[in-house]
Amino acid sequence: MTKTINSHSQIVAFCCRYCAYAAADLAGVLRLRYPPDIRIVQLPCTGRLDTLEVLHALEHGADAVMVAGCLEGDCHFQRGNIVARTRVNRIKELLTEIGIEPERVEMFNMSSAMGRQFAEAALEFTERITALGPSPLRSGLKEITEAVEM
Ligand code: FES
Repeated sequence: MTKTINSHSQIVAFCCRYCAYAAADLAGVLRLRYPPDIRIVQLPCTGRLDTLEVLHALEHGADAVMVAGCLEGDCHFQRGNIVARTRVNRIKELLTEIGIEPERVEMFNMSSAMGRQFAEAALEFTERITALGPSPLRSGLKEITEAVEM
């Protein structure tokens, strides 16, 4: 039985269609539950994910971002997942520089057959983000919105 948690985090998961997206689908077929906080965005390969897209997600209300690509050595575009990992590490550095927890962005690798691992990764990541609390960027946005509405 899969553990569930109550959380109101907003997490965007950029998933490669060849692996993590299919693994998420498999998790659904197997009726493995993972937190509804995860919003999946399908990519042709994680190597296509631009640094700005991750920052854009964080800037527009996401508390965290998962990037999930094929197992190392199995990327259909050879080095896309390696490039993605390098980008994720750079994004973590950027977040640290501006005072935001780098743990809010994480790279995962899995195959399409790893539905259970996808569900577990989604759950563990959501627990981590729930413990961190809402993104400071989201709080900032809320304050700005409230100030404008007054
Ligand atoms: Fe899956 Fe590149 S094709 S990460």
